[in-house]
Amino acid sequence: MNTLTNKRVLLGVSGSIAAYKSPDIVRRLQDLGAEVRVIVTDGGKEFVSERSLQTISKNKVHSNLWDKEAELAMGHIELAKWSDIVIIAPASANTIAKLCHGRADDLLSTVILATDAKVMLAPSMNQQMYASKAMKDNLKILLKRGIVIIEPGFGEQACGDVGEGRLAEALDIANQAADLFTSTSLSGKKVLITLGGTIEAIDPVRYISNHSSGKMGMALAHQCIQAGAKTTLIIGSISIDIEKRAEVIHIVSADEMYEAVMKRIESQDLFICCAAVADFRPKNVSHNKIKKNNSPVTIELTENKDILASVCQLSKRPICIGFAAESENFIVNARAKLESKACEAIILNDISQSEIGLNSDKNEVHFITKEHCEKIEKNSKQIIAEKIIEKITNYYF
Ligand code: PMT
Repeated sequence: MNTLTNKRVLLGVSGSIAAYKSPDIVRRLQDLGAEVRVIVTDGGKEFVSERSLQTISKNKVHSNLWDKEAELAMGHIELAKWSDIVIIAPASANTIAKLCHGRADDLLSTVILATDAKVMLAPSMNQQMYASKAMKDNLKILLKRGIVIIEPGFGEQACGDVGEGRLAEALDIANQAADLFTSTSLSGKKVLITLGGTIEAIDPVRYISNHSSGKMGMALAHQCIQAGAKTTLIIGSISIDIEKRAEVIHIVSADEMYEAVMKRIESQDLFICCAAVADFRPKNVSHNKIKKNNSPVTIELTENKDILASVCQLSKRPICIGFAAESENFIVNARAKLESKACEAIILNDISQSEIGLNSDKNEVHFITKEHCEKIEKNSKQIIAEKIIEKITNYYF
């Protein structure tokens, strides 16, 4: 599958102010499963310390082509052979020009000449420099050679100018690197995913909701898209960026999520219910803000429709995968849900620990079917999503 599991990424950091963002790029690449080594040029060192990059990458940082000891430990040819992909981020105007001319006057440019790995560049420079004819010509030459260019962003720059030339976001760089290792296991399939929390109004000001961030669902969306699926997201309340390549429907309440799912379910091949849907909503929503009057307020609740169970009852339905967020009796409760919802599989996550499950970057889950109960060890939600989609495609497609 995609992501960067078991992939060896060599990150080249060259001389641009955006080099200070490179430790975050290392992190995002690691989140996707990559082992990362870093080469920093002399220019790069002006903006980021080798110590930061070494601490975050957990590997010695490489910088000097002529360092005898470094060459003995892992020389430029070994580095070039070691890499599955070389990403230069930020790529300065000077580094881009050097690559165009095939120069080999420092470690990074030498490794680029010596590698047969995929190469990606994320340019970062002043907008006028980026718009210059020389830069455009250089990028065209590199594109023709098969080097992947990650477009810079538009906006205010460190120098005060506004324009195109800001380094792409760290997460986009990592995701685009992972895209180069794409699989086609869900090619041509349609996937519908619910994610985030639902919001159930009490009055015009207050509501009942939960802490779902949408991270798990969005990681699954990314994996499905990577695997070639046409992916639709029904999104409740979330606190993360939305996967740009998905079709997106925003909803607020469980009722709206139900309607949005039912409208689209017939044409789907796979339905993943990752949302934290409120089981109950206030029976009556007050039109006016409820006032304090020194007596206790009672809110009567009524049950929401169960979206997953309703889909599983349909005569023509997709493969259905549910989630179970549990804080005790984990496997027993998850198995009970598998049976009551009548879905193909339940993915159990433990929400009693703060560093996994709800609203965290990591997770640890069990993939439970009638016949199997398989643990997926603690990891970033991207890697957990990769392994879940791998199991789903192996079992059902
Ligand atoms: O968003 P994150 O911060 O990344 O956190 C991810 C998560 C913990 C929210 C997610 O991994 C998860 O566990 N989602 C399901 C949470 C939940 O509400 O579980 P449940 O046991 O209440 O529901 C079981 C299943 O039925 C779920 O698939 C749920 O989407 C579905 N359901 C529940 C109630 C309802 N009315 N309709 C439903 O479809």
